[in-house]
Amino acid sequence: MNRIFSGVQPTGNLHLGNYLGAIRNWVSLQNEYECVFCVVDQHAITVWQDPPQLRHAIREVTAGLIAAGVDPKKNILFNQSMVPAHAQLAWVFNCVARMGWLNRMTQFKEKAGKNRENVSVGLFAYPNLMAADILAYKATHVPVGEDQKQHLELTRDIAQKFNADYGVDFFPLTEPLILGEATRVMSLRDGSKKMSKSDESDFARINMTDTADTIAQKLRKAKTDPEPLPETVEGLEGRPEAANLVGIYAALANLSRAEVLARVGGQPFSTFKGELTDLAVSVLQPINTEMARLLADPASIDAILREGAERADAIARPIITEVHEIVGLLRP
Ligand code: TYM
Repeated sequence: MNRIFSGVQPTGNLHLGNYLGAIRNWVSLQNEYECVFCVVDQHAITVWQDPPQLRHAIREVTAGLIAAGVDPKKNILFNQSMVPAHAQLAWVFNCVARMGWLNRMTQFKEKAGKNRENVSVGLFAYPNLMAADILAYKATHVPVGEDQKQHLELTRDIAQKFNADYGVDFFPLTEPLILGEATRVMSLRDGSKKMSKSDESDFARINMTDTADTIAQKLRKAKTDPEPLPETVEGLEGRPEAANLVGIYAALANLSRAEVLARVGGQPFSTFKGELTDLAVSVLQPINTEMARLLADPASIDAILREGAERADAIARPIITEVHEIVGLLRP
């Protein structure tokens, strides 16, 4: 049976990269697969989070997912810490994964920088918890942006080693689903850097909570080059900022980049940016309004998460029980 798992961290605002790289794909996949979607609050605390702000961010991200079209009735939607199997399985995986594997994770290297001695152990073990998220449900497919590819390869390595060490055919080898024209949305200020929640400049990203005026301003200021837009996809080569904006347009309009360029090739950026603003506002504004409506009633969001956690627990609990048996932990 096919089952999807995916997650998003409640750290700062959801941005256009999260939306185009992941969340929009979750919405279209929810009609084809059984889906488990998770707000990964335990991943968030691998770096310092202010507790009241974290509580708010968990609700805000949940509201953002629902406003973007994730249906909490059709799918399971919950926050990670409510289901004990995630942390329990992560511990087992801490004992399966090798230090050398984790040492190679590029996201860890980027996040830890030169300060390795001083980051949390949780940040180092982050990918093991991610593997546990996925495998606690024996998920077969994981829709994510391109930046998560290496973590998903590690998830397969862990599953394979667990199966081999214990001589079982227990965990599936999960497939990533990296879909669409915007699998790696780049910063609006620097086409060589990923759009990210942690970028110091708010002008580097479009947040799901930005007003129409802010979106217009950020796109007006977005870095470009002096040439007009090319007529073909090949013409985007060596022009990272142009490629990024065309990719964003294509994903928002559900077109290929070639179709977009057939329409806008030859335009100066000033004209194209105006069209892109109208398009982005028309997609994001209704989500923004719905998000604010949902957030006005935090108790309802909590109830959705609680119900989702119960349904998630019903799947994960028997799996972690079996894992404990396989490993030889005694449960008298
Ligand atoms: P997070 O919270 O950084 O991002 C959530 C999703 O958004 C995608 N994404 C992007 N896609 C395209 N362009 C971008 N600039 C961009 N930035 C983010 C991410 O690829 C992701 O799909 N480790 C994960 C969360 C996680 C998870 C999991 C994901 C924890 N457990 C299990 C899948 C399965 C993360 O930090 O995502």
